[in-house]
Order: sequence, then structure tokens, then C-alpha cells
Amino acid sequence: MLSWDDYYKDEAELAQKEQRARELRQQQSQTEAAARKQAAQAQQTAAAQVARETSAPQNGAQTAERSFDAAVAAHQATVESETQTATAAARPAAGNGQSEVPDEVVNQDVLQQAIEGLQDLDVQTGEAELGEWTERVTVDDKQMINCRADLNQLVPFKYDWAWQKYLDGCANHWMPQEINMNADIALWKGREGLTADERLIVKRNLGFFATADSLVANNLVLAIYRLITNPECRQYILRQAFEEAIHTHAYQYCIESLGMDEGEIFNMYHEIPSVAKKASWGLKYTHELSDPNFTTGTPETDKALLKNLIAFYCCLEGIFFYCGFTQILSMGRRNKMTGTSEQFQYILRDESMHLNFGIDMINQIKLENPHLWDDQMRQDTTQMILEATQLEIEYARDTMPRGVLGMNAVMMEEYLQFIANRRLAQVGLPEQFKGVKNPFPWMSEIMDLRKEKNFFETRVIEYQTGGALSWD
Ligand SMILES: [Fe+2]
Ligand SMILES: [Fe+2]
Repeated sequence: MLSWDDYYKDEAELAQKEQRARELRQQQSQTEAAARKQAAQAQQTAAAQVARETSAPQNGAQTAERSFDAAVAAHQATVESETQTATAAARPAAGNGQSEVPDEVVNQDVLQQAIEGLQDLDVQTGEAELGEWTERVTVDDKQMINCRADLNQLVPFKYDWAWQKYLDGCANHWMPQEINMNADIALWKGREGLTADERLIVKRNLGFFATADSLVANNLVLAIYRLITNPECRQYILRQAFEEAIHTHAYQYCIESLGMDEGEIFNMYHEIPSVAKKASWGLKYTHELSDPNFTTGTPETDKALLKNLIAFYCCLEGIFFYCGFTQILSMGRRNKMTGTSEQFQYILRDESMHLNFGIDMINQIKLENPHLWDDQMRQDTTQMILEATQLEIEYARDTMPRGVLGMNAVMMEEYLQFIANRRLAQVGLPEQFKGVKNPFPWMSEIMDLRKEKNFFETRVIEYQTGGALSWD
């Protein structure tokens, strides 16, 4: 590990080197300026000679010959001058025979242009673009949407829950390659390893999730990021976007490890109706907001943003993921496809935090903009959650034509209704399915964030933190 003494020693050496490089550049610049001046003088002399000769009464052949000689002389002077300039630029420093010109400075003219370009930089221009946003931000200036304060000022925090989720997300970092897939590969490729129904479940879920997480990531960065006008929430959204990339990576890692037909898996969201319907349902909420001309600021457009958040956080991540997660985790509980199941466990843990963050954002927007949460909006939200539940029930029937892994489509239907009730309650709406119970209580246990320690017991890789970074 690098000590502080080493660090300061390196800093001092670096400063000396930079100073030497600066002096050298200055010398070169002077040499080049002198060479350019010399070339200009030579050209002027040659041009004057041409002018004199052409104006004097001489015979034609002689005049042409002398003009040609003068032009050659001018050209020669230019070439010599350029050669001197190039030689000066490439000349090694005296002493050890090695060039002390930093390697990155290969073209002094380009560097000079860059320096000259910066002379016109006017910091006022940037401030003029920000307009009123240049003021120091206070907590009271901050708003979830339509905020008119500088969004580059992360602090002071207003929404501590968003910052805390960002910290929690970072603390839970993981990568798909950490998980051993050997047992899954043996089971998947063995003839007797899995039943046809179990294989269907693995394929369908990898097919759905491989593209679903990509849809979520696209919605985050292409639609909602710019419309959520709060820096601590944006900080979490950026973290979430990276986690979605890790999830897509995890599915690809499973698909590749198991030697599946990638074209078949990645095209299920076009080709398999129960998968395609879920993808299309989510995409329609991205469409309007991903238009670069879309802005919030009216009740209609603010409601469109709110609906997008409800569609993606409550429905897509909050309902569409639940049949598949339950099926794969149930497989893992039966000691089958344990690597795939572990990948899904890590993903589910991230997803439950995404869901909680989304619910907090939705409720905060409702709080700050009560006029948006009118009867129509409540009715629309209820319908969206019920539509999503229905699509997930269809998916359960498609992926479980018979009982499998200790569950069946009827049990899953009840579970999804139980989940739908929770989503409705989380955004302050009445439950729609009376008396339903959770037939899979072990799912809640897996998702429970308080089980943090046990959940990560199987981890084998320690991530480097600031205090342990190697500077080699
Ligand atoms: Fe995800
Ligand atoms: Fe997610």
C-alpha cells in the first residue's frame, strides 16, 4: 500500500517534472516563433525581388528565369524554416539523451491552439445559461419535480431517505461472476437433471428478465432522470441504473454459462405472448416521456410522469418480477439451479430497494403536488395495478401449465393478489382483493432487509474500499 511519505515524495517529483516540461515548452515556443519570423522575412525578400525583376525592362526569357529562381528561393526559405521548427520540437534535452518533452505533447501547434481557445472562455456564459439557478440552494428550494434551483448542488439534503438508499445500494454491491455456476451447468446439461416443466421455467424467466431490466434501465436514463429535479434522488437513480446493468449482465451470465440459444432467449419479449404483453405494457409508459420535447409543468404532463413512476416502480418492478422470482427461488430452495437462484436472490434484494425508493418518490410527489392525486388519478392508478396483476397471472399460467416445485398457477394468483394489495396500500389506495393471504411467506423472509448478514454469507469477494486501494 502507498504510504503518505511515498505519496508526498511522488507529488514533489511530479511538480519538478511539470516545471521542467513547462520551461522546455517555453523554450520551444520561442524557437518556433523566431523560425516563423525568419521564414516570413525570407518570403518578403523573395517577393520583393520578384516584384523588382518583373517591373524592370528585361527580355522575357530572362525575366521568367529570374522569377522562377526567386520563387524557388522563397520556397526554400519556408522549407528550411519549417524544418528548424520541427527539429526544435523534436530535439532531445541536453544531458541524458532522452527527450523530456512529455509524451502526450506531440504537436505544439495543437497545444497552442488549445491554450488560445481557452483565452476566450467566459465563465459568465455558463452562469447566464443557468439564469436564476446560480443562487446557493437551501432545503426549502428543493422539490421532486419542476424545481427551479441549481441541480448540481447535492447538499443540503432535503430527502434523506433518497441519500440513505444510495448509500445502502453502494454497500450492497455485487457482481455476477462471484457466483459459482458449475452445479447449474452440470444440472442443465445432464439428461435427468430437470423436468420439462422446470426447464420451461428457467428459460422463460431468463427470457423475460434479460430484456425487462433493460427496459427499466432505459426508462430511467432516457425518460425519468431529467424530469426528477432533485439531486439526491438523481444520485440514487444513477446507482439504480448501474444495478439494472448488473442485472442484465447476471442474466446474460446465466444464459451464456448454460449454453442457451441467446437469440431465442433475448427475443422472447417479441415472440412469446405472455412475455411480450408485459414488455409492451411497460414500454407504452416510456414512450411519451422519452420524447426529448416532453417537459413537465402542467397537471397533464406531471400526471404522465407520475404514471410512468407507478408503471415502472409499482407494476413492472413491483409486480411483473414476482412470479419469476418466486419460481426461481423455489427451485434454489429445492437445491436445483442454485447458482441461478443465488443470482436472482441478489437481484431481488436490489429490486426491493428500487421498489421502496419508487414508492417514496411517488408519495413525495403526491405530497408536494396534491392536485395531481385527484379521483381520476386514483382510479387510473388502481386500474394500472390491476392490469399488471392480470398480466402477471397470465404469465404464471403460461409458465406453470401444471403444478411444479411445490406451487401452481392458482397459488401464484393468490400471491400476486396479495402483492397487488400491498402495492395499492403503499401508494395510499384501498386494497382490491379481500381476504387473500401470502402462500409463500418464505419470499418475504428472503426480501427482508434486516436479514442482511445472512444474505451475504456466501460472498467470496471483498470489494476494495478507499482505505485499501493500491496505487501501483
Ligand atoms: Fe433490475
Ligand atoms: Fe430494478
